Amino acid sequence: MSTAHEAREARNDGQAPSADSLLPLPVRVGRVRRETADVATLELRPASPFVFAPGQFNMLYVFGLGEAAISVSGDPARDDRIVHTVRAVGAVSSALARLRRDQVIGVRGAYGSCWPVAGSEGSDIVIVAGGLGLAPLRPVIYRVLAHRERYGRVVVLYGTRSPAEILYRRELEAWRRRLDVDIVVTVDHAAADWRGNVGVVPALIPRILVDPDHAVAMVCGPEIMMRFTVDALRQRGLAMDRIFVSMERNMKCAIGLCGHCQFGPAFVCRDGPVFRFDRIAPVFNIREI
Ligand SMILES: Cc1cc2nc3c(=O)[nH]c(=O)nc-3n(C[C@H](O)[C@H](O)[C@H](O)COP(=O)(O)OP(=O)(O)OC[C@H]3O[C@@H](n4cnc5c(N)ncnc54)[C@H](O)[C@@H]3O)c2cc1C
Ligand code: FES
Repeated sequence: MSTAHEAREARNDGQAPSADSLLPLPVRVGRVRRETADVATLELRPASPFVFAPGQFNMLYVFGLGEAAISVSGDPARDDRIVHTVRAVGAVSSALARLRRDQVIGVRGAYGSCWPVAGSEGSDIVIVAGGLGLAPLRPVIYRVLAHRERYGRVVVLYGTRSPAEILYRRELEAWRRRLDVDIVVTVDHAAADWRGNVGVVPALIPRILVDPDHAVAMVCGPEIMMRFTVDALRQRGLAMDRIFVSMERNMKCAIGLCGHCQFGPAFVCRDGPVFRFDRIAPVFNIREI
């Protein structure tokens, strides 16, 4: 891990960048991979090296249309590309998901706090993702697997609504073939030809083989899924300061100025998106806060 990453992770405080970073830089689209019917992974080609820490996000600007906050989903060891996985839900994300090679968009970032990847060396790692929540956790998987000897047991639990919505299929299969990581994929509903797990992802947690006193859990997905997952992790014996969650709120400035992303006393862009659970527990269960 680079010194810059270590410093950022040690703070994990999402310190606001300067106002200069409000300016989007033009970046060309390279390869585009269609993941599912409404999700695409974009590989952008930055003119200069792009450094980020797992869990951080960029603001992607479709010229003339607007910006959206999108997590970086690529390998933190590769500074020659910026990878994002986008689901088409509204005007900007739909335009992003339709991009083709050689088109140009604006990029500013990377912003926000990060997952405690370096800080968890020596611990068991539990990664729990629901749906598109696998995107901001994929950089954690890359980094942990690249330094596998530094961690205890590594468990990845990933749930989607149906097999058609599984992201990063080829990579999941490759990781599954490794003997040093437990990958479990579960779906809410499946057709007869699905041979994997059926059921919601928190239901897998009682079965995980980790030492709760020496495990760190990183959780990202819809808020309802994160609530049940945190409850299951607590029941499995993990203390609140060993659980990290990534929150989403509507973003505008992304640098702690406008207040759009307020989450209780915190701003998601500046203090998050990754929060240690004990620090947000009082507001976590309040819907629409
Ligand atoms: C830190 C962070 C990381 C994100 N990472 C990704 C990512 O990797 N990939 C991805 O596809 N999306 C991601 N998002 C979500 C994305 O920024 C929003 O969906 C964004 O609003 C899309 O813009 P739009 O103009 O397409 O849709 P909009 O017109 O803004 O909204 C479309 C619909 O989504 C709802 N909505 C908007 N923003 C949010 C939000 N933050 N949470 C819940 N509902 C919302 C709106 O109410 C509306 O129903 C992330 C958001 C945050 C805050
Ligand atoms: S988006 Fe403006 S304060 Fe967070």
